[in-house]
Amino acid sequence: MTDSKNEIQSTYQKISRRYDWHMRCYHLVGLRIGDYRRHAVELLNLKQGDRVVDLGCGTGLSFPHIMERIGPEGHLTGVDMTPGMLTCARERCERAGWNNVERVQLEIASYDFPQEIDAVISTGVMGYISEYGRIIQNAAKGFSPRRPSGHPRRQTTGRLAAVAVQTIIQDQKTAGAGY
Ligand SMILES: C[S@@+](CC[C@H](N)C(=O)[O-])C[C@H]1O[C@@H](n2cnc3c(N)ncnc32)[C@H](O)[C@@H]1O
Repeated sequence: MTDSKNEIQSTYQKISRRYDWHMRCYHLVGLRIGDYRRHAVELLNLKQGDRVVDLGCGTGLSFPHIMERIGPEGHLTGVDMTPGMLTCARERCERAGWNNVERVQLEIASYDFPQEIDAVISTGVMGYISEYGRIIQNAAKGFSPRRPSGHPRRQTTGRLAAVAVQTIIQDQKTAGAGY
């Protein structure tokens, strides 16, 4: 892992227990990351039984929005390199009684996407990752192949939604919000 990734990991490791509280504070001062997170999940147009990957899932703040849509028949994989963040994500799953959520501790660039996934989400992470182009290509390879009847070519139905914090701050500045 590069020095900068080590630094990111060690920062998130230190704040993992306080991360959700930080997010609530940001909301109070006008940085509505939660709204963007929810909107990103809406854009995925998830259905019951869908298979989803959350890249850089952190403590799992997107999980409730995803789980509400995919239900117990679906499958969610949260990938994150920081053990402390994944511990919080595991605890969130235990509290909610979700047993169809897998957590993978790995750097996203090394993640081997499973086949037949329906959607990928990433919120507040891509700004850290210089190889995001390659990651998006890898994700696309895992999207579910479907051949609509009468269609000559195989098509994929995967959806990807990514939110970068820089975009949120810029959006809110443009909208004249507190940030
Ligand atoms: C700002 S938090 C976002 C967490 C969550 N997606 C959310 O919306 O609350 C960034 C997360 O990305 C993870 N992360 C950053 N770079 C990563 C990388 N290269 N591989 C895996 N995880 C990474 C960090 O460990 C941290 O949990």
